[in-house]
Amino acid sequence: MSTTFTLDTSTSRAHPVPEPVRRLTVPAIQKRKGGEPIVMLTAYTARMAQLLDPHCDLLLVGDSLGQVIYGLDTTVKVTLDMMIAHGAAVVRGSYRSVVVIDLPFGTYEDSPEAAFRTAARVLRETGAAAVKLEGGAVMAPTVKFLSERGIPVMAHVGLTPQAVNALGGYGARGRSEAEAAKILADAKAVAEAGCFALVVEGVVEPLAVAITEAVACPTIGIGASPACDGQVLVVDDMLGMFERVPRFVERFDDLAGHITAAATEYAARVRARAFPTDAQLYR
Ligand code: KIV
Repeated sequence: MSTTFTLDTSTSRAHPVPEPVRRLTVPAIQKRKGGEPIVMLTAYTARMAQLLDPHCDLLLVGDSLGQVIYGLDTTVKVTLDMMIAHGAAVVRGSYRSVVVIDLPFGTYEDSPEAAFRTAARVLRETGAAAVKLEGGAVMAPTVKFLSERGIPVMAHVGLTPQAVNALGGYGARGRSEAEAAKILADAKAVAEAGCFALVVEGVVEPLAVAITEAVACPTIGIGASPACDGQVLVVDDMLGMFERVPRFVERFDDLAGHITAAATEYAARVRARAFPTDAQLYR
């Protein structure tokens, strides 16, 4: 689908004028189970959302923003205010995709009621359509509680980065039979509790296939399997912003290289008094 945005830079960079576009809905995403693959990327800013939106079905304001935007070492330190500020920016910058916002660590695990209060604030203050939370069977009552009260929930099983301190690292999960069985049971529990989609992260491929076959909702893989109903990547990984490339990432560009080249050229021209030129001056 092609959607073009005219960015009115004469007034503001923040208010593009889109052609009329209808936003996708959570039920439309649910219906894609076993159908056309679902495209999801993370986004954290309005401008990136504008650029990604025409190509995506879902934009995830992931708590990966803690590492990607804020330079934190884990997602455990991400706050609700960070998620809300970036979530609202992504909603403002998008017109077509369903925007999903991660509930940060410590804001929802306590009880379904606590999760409801956090999720309601997220949806109210951002305009997003859904929230994502990490965890399996233990979070199933919360997924049910929120879903029954009008809050669509995307669940997340397998490698769950908010649990890095308990897991001991970011290695792939499900290598032992017992661990694979537990992750499959987790996936079934949150799916039966009513999540509208399920992120399956960092698991051995046969387990991702088994989960996709076992649950009624679409699965979105990251380090999982092409058999999943959709795929997600952290946008900065996909664009080549970082030197470290995890196994599950493909770099579709080298943005860090382009930025380095542009900054090098700018610095050289400033130092040589070759910028600004006549073209940039007010006469
Ligand atoms: O926080 C995030 O970006 C995520 C995706 C990697 C699924 O949870």
